[in-house]
Amino acid sequence: MAGSIASQAVVLGAILLLAGLAAAQQTPRAPAAAAAPAPDPGCNGIQLTYNLQGREKIRPFVPDRSKQPYSFKANASVLNGGTRPLRSWSMLVTFGHDEILVGVGGAVLTGGAELPYNTTEDAGNATSFSGYPQTDLLTPIATAGDITQIQASVGLVGTLFAGPRGLVPEPLPTALTLDDPDYNCPAATNVTATMLTTCCLLTPEAEANATVPEANATDPTKSFLPRRTGDLVITYDVVQAYPTSYLALVTLENNAKLGRLDNWRLSWEWRRGEFIYSMKGAHPLEVDVNECIYGAPGQYYQSLDFSQVLNCEKKPVILDLPLSRPATLVHVVVL
Ligand SMILES: *[C@@H]1O[C@H](CO)[C@@H](O)[C@H](O)[C@H]1NC(C)=O
Ligand SMILES: *[C@@H]1O[C@H](CO)[C@@H](O)[C@H](O)[C@H]1NC(C)=O
Ligand SMILES: *[C@@H]1O[C@H](CO)[C@@H](O)[C@H](O)[C@H]1NC(C)=O
Ligand SMILES: *[C@@H]1O[C@H](CO)[C@@H](O)[C@H](O)[C@H]1NC(C)=O
Ligand SMILES: *[C@@H]1O[C@H](CO)[C@@H](O)[C@H](O)[C@H]1NC(C)=O
Ligand SMILES: *[C@@H]1O[C@H](CO)[C@@H](O)[C@H](O)[C@H]1NC(C)=O
Repeated sequence: MAGSIASQAVVLGAILLLAGLAAAQQTPRAPAAAAAPAPDPGCNGIQLTYNLQGREKIRPFVPDRSKQPYSFKANASVLNGGTRPLRSWSMLVTFGHDEILVGVGGAVLTGGAELPYNTTEDAGNATSFSGYPQTDLLTPIATAGDITQIQASVGLVGTLFAGPRGLVPEPLPTALTLDDPDYNCPAATNVTATMLTTCCLLTPEAEANATVPEANATDPTKSFLPRRTGDLVITYDVVQAYPTSYLALVTLENNAKLGRLDNWRLSWEWRRGEFIYSMKGAHPLEVDVNECIYGAPGQYYQSLDFSQVLNCEKKPVILDLPLSRPATLVHVVVL
């Protein structure tokens, strides 16, 4: 019989094989810094900037000049110039030139979509980017203005469709905002022909609310988003980190007054080639290491005995175990 899920913890140990391979493949190299003029220095809030660093005509060459593909490089940045830390930032960019994103560095697509990503799938809506690995931006005051802690930048490489340079405006996004209800972002304006910027300020309601928990600058692991309430709370907590792996405690907490949750299945999708080395308190639906042996982990960890590895699926499915094993601890290995 499966345990009802009052406060069950699942410890997953996944080996994350990230460092070399996946990261190297996915992250576009920092575009050769096309020195951009400094954006408006007068933002005492969250400054968003999109800088089109360059574009090159690529094949096929087409007669309709407005449909000509160009490769492009751009850099979007989020800079906290305010008095509150910005936690779990997401930036919304509305593309208008049928951009195909091929490389995204410094952030991930919020929806978890794969690259290349066709932004026309958003049908005129914004494409959302979330900070990764830099999810939080501290304040200049708490960091003595340390730019590495108050600014995140997203490197983009992709293809867009536009007319020849000089004859049409440079192909910039049509809008740029922050996905955070506490901030108001006025319409972004171009400060140069290739740079779009806006300054988001706290809404008066958010400004008046003093109960926002402050980030703990001395110990960022003590800074949490306020816990949101719900009937089922799933927590993925990294409890120990090693150079290429970590231990995570995965907890499902059922707060529903009436509902029991038996025989649960939990699944997630790895973004960076991680795999699960071992697990206690729960079990994967499949014990399958083929994806490791024939994939990037097998090349990267050539001396690892993959027969000891538990699961290499990109989307592992984790099953409840009988009551005798109340918690799940996972050992994850990173590429
Ligand atoms: C992006 O621009 C910011 C400033 O706007 C700069 O600090 C950062 O280094 C740039 N990143 C890349 C990858 O060019
Ligand atoms: C992107 O999506 C649009 C609309 O769905 C489609 O017409 C276009 O061919 C797609 N581009 C690529 C490169 O797949
Ligand atoms: C675009 O936004 C509208 C309004 O928020 C939403 O109803 C629609 O589903 C969105 N379309 C896509 C493709 O995300
Ligand atoms: C903003 O872009 C428009 C064309 O879209 C251009 O005419 C204008 O000169 C740009 N503004 C600045 C300050 O470069
Ligand atoms: C103030 O912020 C707290 C925590 O984010 C939130 O729970 C509360 O609803 C906010 N109050 C108002 C009046 O917005
Ligand atoms: C920040 O974390 C440190 C270390 O855990 C703790 O001693 C301190 O009280 C925390 N500060 C705040 C404001 O929570």
